[in-house]
Amino acid sequence: MKQEDLYRNKVILAPMVRVCALPMRLLALDYGADLVYSEEQIDRKILLCQKKENQVLHTTDFMLSDGTVVFRTCPAEKGKLILQIGTCDGKRALAAARKLQDYIAGVDVNMGCPKEFSVKGGMGAALLTQPEKVKQILSTLVSELNVPVSCKIRVLPKLEDTIKLAQLIESTGVSALAVHGRTKDERSRDPNRDDYIQAVAAAVSIPVIANGGSKNINSLTDLENFKNTTGASSVMLARAAMWNCSVFRKQGPLPVLGVLKSYLKYAFQYDNNEMNTKYCVLQMLHDRMTEVPQADRCLTAKSLKDFADIWDMKAEYESVMEQRYAREKELLAQQGG
Ligand code: FNR
Repeated sequence: MKQEDLYRNKVILAPMVRVCALPMRLLALDYGADLVYSEEQIDRKILLCQKKENQVLHTTDFMLSDGTVVFRTCPAEKGKLILQIGTCDGKRALAAARKLQDYIAGVDVNMGCPKEFSVKGGMGAALLTQPEKVKQILSTLVSELNVPVSCKIRVLPKLEDTIKLAQLIESTGVSALAVHGRTKDERSRDPNRDDYIQAVAAAVSIPVIANGGSKNINSLTDLENFKNTTGASSVMLARAAMWNCSVFRKQGPLPVLGVLKSYLKYAFQYDNNEMNTKYCVLQMLHDRMTEVPQADRCLTAKSLKDFADIWDMKAEYESVMEQRYAREKELLAQQGG
């Protein structure tokens, strides 16, 4: 298989900070996503992490010295997980990617984030106007890594500049290019420039992954339409998947409250960060805060156990905790004996 085939004709969970930790990625795969991107990981932070095989959760964790889990993965997503890196330097990105290389199917470089912390640090959308940096980062990764490399851009205000950038990116040997059809100064309420994505898809031969269409996407059929409109090889969904991850289902999406509970089961199982869990739950309720009776309590929830109480999932939570406790005891006994 050619490396670029990994990205052809796929439906993909887009990278989202806070959202695309292990529970959401596993949920998206359950519902039918072909590939899942991690949240953006800053290369410097990855380099500070120690790897730990977590024998209680059956995960591989990359952790800071204070115990913060920066990146957690498990075998169920092997072959489907793309690590997105935030970087402004090829060598550092390479060192970070190498650390995680055995656990990922590909590496993506974020060249679209418009947030101040990214742009000021020379990362994300700052790279869109620095072709030499783009070349240095992508060529270094392509020549040194065993896994395929892609990057995710926003469009530039002028179509011809966007095409030039896409062709330059292609010339570095990357296997795919994701294009969000908004400029760095445009917000999500602005229309997505599907015509720019279409022009890029026509101008390069690597797979182009269309992004930015969430507002009009509620089902796999809508996703297919977005793919056809943009002429892209694949499509990538962020917000629509965050609001209701079952959007990837072939048989049609499920009611969101059931999806929310499935998400929480994974959050309990993989001991997900409480604040990120809360963020995801509130996003799933975003347009029904007034009609769902549990919504108010979610605003003040502080722990995974609080969510179990609110959503009538005590039995599931306790079962996970009992299993975890039993596993810890088993491991202690093994160590002792
Ligand atoms: C994002 N986006 C984003 N993009 C990226 O390249 N890396 C990231 O870590 C994030 N983080 C992130 C968090 C959240 C909460 C949102 C809503 C978005 C942008 C995202 O991947 C996507 O490009 C845009 O949301 C447009 O696509 P949709 O939402 O229309 O499918």
